[in-house]
Amino acid sequence: MDIPVLTIDGPSGAGKGTVSRLIAQKLGWHYLDSGAIYRALALELTEKDVLHESIAEIVDVALGMDLVFSSENRSVLLNGQDITDLLGLESTGNNASKIAAIPEIRAALLQKQHDFKQAPGLVADGRDMGTVVFPEAKHKVFLTASASERAERRYKQLKEKGIDANLLKITADIQERDQRDSERQISPLVPAADAIYIDSSTMSIQAVVAEVLSLVR
Ligand code: DC
Repeated sequence: MDIPVLTIDGPSGAGKGTVSRLIAQKLGWHYLDSGAIYRALALELTEKDVLHESIAEIVDVALGMDLVFSSENRSVLLNGQDITDLLGLESTGNNASKIAAIPEIRAALLQKQHDFKQAPGLVADGRDMGTVVFPEAKHKVFLTASASERAERRYKQLKEKGIDANLLKITADIQERDQRDSERQISPLVPAADAIYIDSSTMSIQAVVAEVLSLVR
């Protein structure tokens, strides 16, 4: 059977996670947060202190990760340990972006991502979902927003959580991460040739969800 896949790629902070989750819920499809896999590996490498070891050792760690995503409460278990809060840290995202530039790591994580493609369908969120991981996907979206808008959103999110935040620093981090993710040699952040481009800078989450759903239905 041909399992339908909707890919939603774009830079960090464009609203991919929120939009993808809502759409997966509405369609009753599975959801893949591929960034969380890179983040989990970054945490595991830091914890095991093997960031500076050989690529072969890093790949072993990647292949050995036991990752469980719970759909009910959005928690993530890595080798039985709840890492949900650690996954969301800015430092985890930055470390994930660094290790994500290593081709052997991307290759080692491919199967884990393919495993999410199950009936009745999949919404896959990331950077290379439509270009590399699921190039056969029927529906592809590239969701972006201006760097300043994405920084503002992140700033508000952190403030709401009571976390001290600095808008200038967040903007600089976002720009640095965009550049690294877009300019890397392997699987860079680029829209698939057949992706629909949506700029959410002045759109509400509901408006983006409605537009993407209209593509799928
Ligand atoms: O989507 P995110 O912020 O959770 O992703 C964290 C980092 O992981 C991102 O900066 C680059 C990397 N990543 C990737 O290279 N490919 C993906 N499909 C998803 C994330």
